[in-house]
Formats: sequence, C-alpha cells, structure tokens
Amino acid sequence: MLARVIPLLDHRQFVERQSAHSFAEPLVTGEVRDRLQRPLRDLRISVTDRCNFRCAYCMPKEVFGSDYQYLPHSSLLSFEEITRVARQFVALGVRKIRLTGGEPLLRKNLEELLVQLTTLNTPDGDAIDLTMTTNGSLLARKAVALKAAGLNRVTVSLDALDDRVFKRMNDVDFPVAKVLDGIEAAQAAGITNIKVNMVVQRGVNDQQIMPMARFFQGSGVALRFIEFMDVGSTNGWNMDAVLPSEAVIRTISEHMPLVRLQASAAGETAQRWGYAGPNGQHQPSLGEIGVISSVTQAFCGDCNRARLSTEGRLFTCLFAGQGFDLRHILRGTTTAEDEQLTRVINSVWRGRADRYSQMRSSVRQQNNSTHQRRPEMSYIGG
Ligand code: GTP
Ligand code: 5AD
Ligand code: SF4
Ligand code: SF4
Repeated sequence: MLARVIPLLDHRQFVERQSAHSFAEPLVTGEVRDRLQRPLRDLRISVTDRCNFRCAYCMPKEVFGSDYQYLPHSSLLSFEEITRVARQFVALGVRKIRLTGGEPLLRKNLEELLVQLTTLNTPDGDAIDLTMTTNGSLLARKAVALKAAGLNRVTVSLDALDDRVFKRMNDVDFPVAKVLDGIEAAQAAGITNIKVNMVVQRGVNDQQIMPMARFFQGSGVALRFIEFMDVGSTNGWNMDAVLPSEAVIRTISEHMPLVRLQASAAGETAQRWGYAGPNGQHQPSLGEIGVISSVTQAFCGDCNRARLSTEGRLFTCLFAGQGFDLRHILRGTTTAEDEQLTRVINSVWRGRADRYSQMRSSVRQQNNSTHQRRPEMSYIGG
C-alpha cells in the first residue's frame, strides 16, 4: 500500500499566473510559439471536477470523500463560455480538442457542448479533431447521442481486465464488463477511433499487461500503457511504483512480436508499436499498442498541449503550479471584445517555458523544500 499525503491546502487556491508579458502587445493570430518554439495544437478541457470512480492514483477516497467540496456550478465555465474561449485557441493554432474531467460524461447535456464545438474550424477551414477521455461507465448509455453530436473518437480508461483488480483500483466496486459494454456500444454507434488507456503501477496491475494486450489485439481498439506519474499532490507517487515502458514492450514482445511504428503526429504522447504478422512486418488487422513514457522518456520537447481547468484557468503544463484565469475575461467582456481573450492566450503561450517531466528530479527536490503543491488531474484535465 502506498503512503498517501492528505493535502493541507486546496489545490484550487493557487495564485493565478500573471504573466510578465504585456497584454498590450499587438494581436497576432495564426501560429503562436512558446519560448521553446513549441506551437499550440492541443487543448484539453476539463468539464467537471467530479468523478464516479475513486482511482487511488487520481482521486483517492481519503481526499475525495463525501465531505469534499467540489466546485459550485456557477464556477464552471458554461458551454457557451467554453466554445467562445475554444474558438480563440483554434485561431491560435489548436487542431485537437479533448474533453476530460473528472469524468466528462457526468456533466449534464454534454452532447450540447460537442455540437457547439463541431462548429469550430481551423483558419484553413478544416474540422477540429474532437475527442474525449472517459472512464466508460456511462458510455453504453450515451454512445449513440455522442456520435450524433459529432464525436468520432474516444479514449476509455481501463486499468485491468480482472474484475477484482479493476474494482480494487476504481475503489467503487465498478465491474469491468460495464466498461467493455461501453466500448462495444461506442463501436456499434460508429465511433470508429477508440483507444484504451491503462495506467500501469508496479505491484498493482502489472500482471494485467498480457491479459489486456491479448484481449485488445485485433479488436480495432489501440491499447496504450501509461507510466504512473507524480501528477497532483495526493496520489502518494513513488518511483518504485513506475513500471518503465521499456519493460512493458519487453514483456509483450516475448509473447506477441512487435514492430516500431512511426509517429502519426508531431508532439504525440505515445510511442506506437504494431503487432507483427508471420513475415515480421506490421499486420494491420492485429492492430497496435502505444506506450506513454512521461516518466522515463519525457516528451516535453515538442509538447503542444494547453489545459483549460473546470473553472476556466489556462495551465500550460500538467504540472504547472498556477493557471491563468480566463473566466474573468470571459465574464467581463462581450463576444465583440474577444480579441482580448486571443491577446491573453497568445501572450501566456509565448511566455511558456514549462518542461516539468524533463526536469522532474530537480523540480521535485526543490518543491519538497518549498512545499509547493500541484493541481490535481481531475481539476485541470488529463
Ligand atoms: P491521442 O490524441 O489519442 O494520441 O491522445 P493523447 O495521448 O494526446 O491523450 P490522452 O489523454 O489519451 O493521454 C494519455 C495519457 O498521457 C494521459 O492520461 C496522461 O497520463 C499522459 N499525458 C497526456 N498529455 C500529457 C502531457 O502533456 N504531459 C505528460 N507528462 N503526460 C501527458
Ligand atoms: N499517472 C498517469 N496517468 C494518470 N491519469 C490520471 N492520473 C494519472 C497518473 N497519476 C490518466 C488516467 C486517465 C486519464 C483521466 O488520466 O489514465 O486515462
Ligand atoms: Fe476518475 Fe479517471 Fe481519475 Fe479514475 S483516473 S478517478 S476514472 S478521472
Ligand atoms: Fe508538456 Fe508539461 Fe507534460 Fe512536459 S510535463 S509534456 S511540458 S504538460
């Protein structure tokens, strides 16, 4: 059992990042690059800080108990506010929008948000790549409506195939079968691009790697193995619990031969591997897997991801201690003044130099001495 630290401070009380940059700079639309020349391509929006699971690595029961104070509804960005701000991100280079949480499907009428977001186009007139990360618990019920609202791809979190292991991990006794039903319903509804994310913790679910790989091979679903990260301040992270992706690839390839595949997009989180056929080449009908090695092989170098928290703060890194409050601009201006939003997002991104995963060990040492805390993933969005 991992030792857990109960936080003394609420992660939402971070002082907002007031960038040193002047917002009176000329407005630049189109491509914006940060201080390390990284473009802005991917926007992850947390639509709720609530979840019906209590995964110990994300929302441990000891912290997120019955007396936990979630954000009041008035604090959350409305769908109109989300779409308004997302439009400005798209003008600055965003091509992919991911809805996350918490559990995004707990947000009422989420389909309406999807419908609004599908109206956004890139400056070249292309549609936005719209996707969602969900725990799958409500997917069977909602898949048809989500597809009708314009969702063509989805990522489902599933950490084990064995019911006992999975129930222990979600800590709410939720069975595997219902998540699998959700995945099937999504496929049946025509959501063709489906991924499954498995966070691997040594000694907790590493014995599930082969059952998961076997189950999803040839299913049309890409399974990705994620290294357990020290995100947030409540999950009791410890390097001993991280199983390096290299070990995952070694284990699987002992039973099912793999070949390395090319990245499908710049700045991609996952390293892709395809199942090889008898000729040693990738056999597409067997599908592929991915490994996300944010601990052992940090991918900050081309990180193009921005995060919008449930209450409208812009975080330029998953591990950033502070976010910039866009909600007060949204609520203090009209759409006719949206240029202000663009200017601020532009300026915050241009000032960005985050690369936490690459600096992990030195930053952790420094933070331990200053007791600096990081926001939880359920709040800023995975
Ligand atoms: P695709 O577009 O489908 O490839 O999705 P993605 O890999 O960009 O996003 P997803 O939300 O599926 O990310 C999978 C996992 O990778 C997350 O749950 C995190 O654990 C990790 N991850 C995603 N983005 C970042 C990031 O910017 N930094 C770090 N350190 N980890 C990340
Ligand atoms: N390390 C790695 N991934 C995490 N996620 C949540 N917490 C962590 C962590 N500590 C991922 C889950 C899920 C998404 C919501 O975020 O796998 O796919
Ligand atoms: Fe919920 Fe996903 Fe966090 Fe688990 S990892 S508590 S399912 S948001
Ligand atoms: Fe991007 Fe920060 Fe993750 Fe590095 S640690 S990949 S900069 S979000």
